[in-house]
Amino acid sequence: MRDPYDDRPYTDNAYAETHPSRIAAVARLAGWEAARVQNARILELGCGRGGNLLPMAAGLPGASFVGVDRSGRQIAGARSVAASTGLQNATFVHAAFETVDLAGASFDYVICHGVLSWIPASERSVLFGRIERSLSPGGVAHLSFNVLPGWYERLAARDWLRFAASSLERPATDAVASLRWLRTQISPEHADYRRRLEAVERRLAETDPAYAAHEYLADEHHPLSIRTFLNETTAAGLSYLGDAIPSTTALELLSDDARKACLALDTAGREQLVDFVRCTAFRRALLVRTEDAKAKSWSAPAGLDRNALQSLRIASRFRTRGPIEAERPIETFDDGDTAVQVSDLSVRRALHELAKAAPEALRFEDLTTRLSGTDGKSAPGALAAELFDVWLATASLDVLAAPTVFSTVAGERPVACPLARWQAGHGGAVTNRLHQAVLTPDAFVRWVLERLDGSRTRGDLTREARSLDGLGAVSDPELRELVAVTVDRLVACALVIA
Ligand SMILES: C[S@@+](CC[C@H](N)C(=O)[O-])C[C@H]1O[C@@H](n2cnc3c(N)ncnc32)[C@H](O)[C@@H]1O
Repeated sequence: MRDPYDDRPYTDNAYAETHPSRIAAVARLAGWEAARVQNARILELGCGRGGNLLPMAAGLPGASFVGVDRSGRQIAGARSVAASTGLQNATFVHAAFETVDLAGASFDYVICHGVLSWIPASERSVLFGRIERSLSPGGVAHLSFNVLPGWYERLAARDWLRFAASSLERPATDAVASLRWLRTQISPEHADYRRRLEAVERRLAETDPAYAAHEYLADEHHPLSIRTFLNETTAAGLSYLGDAIPSTTALELLSDDARKACLALDTAGREQLVDFVRCTAFRRALLVRTEDAKAKSWSAPAGLDRNALQSLRIASRFRTRGPIEAERPIETFDDGDTAVQVSDLSVRRALHELAKAAPEALRFEDLTTRLSGTDGKSAPGALAAELFDVWLATASLDVLAAPTVFSTVAGERPVACPLARWQAGHGGAVTNRLHQAVLTPDAFVRWVLERLDGSRTRGDLTREARSLDGLGAVSDPELRELVAVTVDRLVACALVIA
């Protein structure tokens, strides 16, 4: 049988939370010291076209990466991008995780994103066993999957799409139109059913059709409960450390009642209750070897240690609206999507400093040094606790364990990350050095990014841009300004390395 991913390759997204620097940061907050990120060994099972692994390899030249996937076409694609962008620290292996021969190698970080829910339930233990055997002592695995009860909300849409494709010959390639048609046929008394279908329709309208094809039409698709997952991983010798995006499961964000009920349960029961309360549809579990946990006398804490933030780095996407006005009781910070109102003066000062340093991640101790001498200064522990709460409540702060490699000023002849330049030339999202997707729908921005190879000054770029279609009415000074602003924007997006 042909591999479905050879017929239709999956999307090649990067997932920020799978980056070892973020995994190590969450692990430290949970009391687990993961391996040094800069020279770590990283394995990704089911790596697809390398959309997640390649940008990590580009940003961590001292680390080594192995990607494994059963689809030969996708592995060939990943190898080709690695070769075109000069990446030498990433190897791609065409094999199934069940049988792959890794020559006894072990890894500090093992990533398996979006694979578990799409394999037969009987194979899950094989995958867990592979992960357990591949982890080096102290290693951390990141395993993501679809969960219930959140996926109950979507299963009716999946059943419909599979039925419509097989029995009504509605093209599977147009899942959105198919869902829209069904929605218009539903009688008014089934408004809840219609709303659920509409939610999936909206989601699919925003994503690559390859996502719909595999997520909603694959023969094998088994969302599972977190409790089942934890029982199975425990049996495979793995212990739960926490979720890679703690805000999605944090007890702090539940009501007092729910939090108390959670605290009375064991880990599996607690996580299951969280998912019932939050109607969770997707989990990103971090796991360690039980053998290592026992050796360290470590067990998963119910909550993270706010104080440990003091040994980490913080980057912020919040921007400020002018200088701080200390006499005002409250200030709003926003990142374009999320806005928070902050009254605590030391937190406001910290967010101003982080905005000034952005996109760079500041070590907590450097942040406090910058704040020393200002009024409204609070003890480091109190500031760490406040920033931890902002981090949990918003997606606008990034907490990292390792330094990032990019430049906050562009040189005379700016250089962008070679992989990002390749991505700019091939469409789709571009991944920055913080391992985040940067949407660059603007053709001019992509054009500039592709050319930042260190051979051109801004003047050279302006002259070359003259010949582009559609810029005829733009004057020379305006074009110069456009190039300068674009380069600055790419710097601000953590895409420029020199
Ligand atoms: C839904 S895609 C996810 C790809 C990527 N990890 C992501 O999240 O974007 C599932 C991937 O797992 C791969 N895969 C499925 N079964 C596999 C197996 N038994 N061994 C290795 N790879 C497998 C598929 O080829 C595909 O690339």
